[in-house]
Amino acid sequence: MTNPLHAAYYAEQAIHCPTTIVENCQLARDTYRVRLHCPEIARRAVPGQFVMVRLANCNDPLLGRPLALYDTVLDEAGEPVGVDLVYLVVGKLTRKLSTCQVGEAMEIWGPLGNGFAPAAGEHLVMVAGGIGQTPFVAMAAEATGQRRYGNPMREVQSASQTTLCYGARSADFLAGVEDFQQLGVDVRISTDDGSAGHHGLVTDLLTQVLAESTGSPRVICCGPEPMMEAVAEIASQQDAQCQVSLESPMACGIGICFSCVTKVRQADGNWDYQRTCVEGPVFDAQQIVW
Ligand SMILES: Cc1cc2nc3c(=O)[nH]c(=O)nc-3n(C[C@H](O)[C@H](O)[C@H](O)COP(=O)(O)OP(=O)(O)OC[C@H]3O[C@@H](n4cnc5c(N)ncnc54)[C@H](O)[C@@H]3O)c2cc1C
Ligand code: FES
Repeated sequence: MTNPLHAAYYAEQAIHCPTTIVENCQLARDTYRVRLHCPEIARRAVPGQFVMVRLANCNDPLLGRPLALYDTVLDEAGEPVGVDLVYLVVGKLTRKLSTCQVGEAMEIWGPLGNGFAPAAGEHLVMVAGGIGQTPFVAMAAEATGQRRYGNPMREVQSASQTTLCYGARSADFLAGVEDFQQLGVDVRISTDDGSAGHHGLVTDLLTQVLAESTGSPRVICCGPEPMMEAVAEIASQQDAQCQVSLESPMACGIGICFSCVTKVRQADGNWDYQRTCVEGPVFDAQQIVW
């Protein structure tokens, strides 16, 4: 199948993998990291892509849920053997998953979606709200030249600088900060209640970072939609390129059901619906009709 309008085109690219949980540990309040053994998916995945996950032998919930690739896991020889996913407990699947033990069976299919464009020497400014930091660890590892992803591995020109602006409700929800710090990312934190970092909005941090930036900044953003809209507006005012990764609810993840559509501006100025799962989840922020 060669027609990208047809769902079979995407279904053929994704790998369906019955798997088991290798690790499932708590990182922060209501936030966990699950490690799944799936070498085929890990070999192919690039930063910004996602997988659909489902509890095996369980019909409640029946449908899989999308979770971003947090990072791939390497064996001692440096070969990708698994993926790490970081999830916030919000509903049925994430609640049940948080109680799963090592060795329990899962189903996973992917890698799905388009992913972020690789770094190209720019100042990479990642802006995360809530659980929106999850697609950025792999991106930061690649942009700092410490990891490569994809099969064949994609070409990257390391970023001149990497900054993460990360906003959370309170300090106890911050998850994975040390993963970014270990990669050498300049991490700026904001919290709604002032319990860590700047007491206020993550967009305040972004405004400051863009004002200080000496390189050509490229903003990538993931989080609640009002936050992404505000980030897109700030980036546009500063003439900075901006991509957003949408977290639309999804039922199939492979282009069949149209449950994930979003309004995207077309070249002729009109808008059309596009499927976040296959035409996204990463879109040019200027194209989104918020
Ligand atoms: C590309 C992509 C990547 C993503 N990556 C991540 C990630 O890395 N980590 C992560 O944590 N999340 C991520 N998400 C979001 C995640 O897929 C959703 O939060 C998912 O729905 C969680 O599944 P669940 O079964 O736990 O919750 P669901 O049961 O699907 O509930 C989701 C939301 O709906 C609300 N809800 C559920 N049932 C009802 C009801 N009856 N009435 C009112 N509200 C209700 C819940 O409170 C919750 O806020 C991503 C989404 C996308 C599209
Ligand atoms: S989730 Fe089914 S088309 Fe996108």
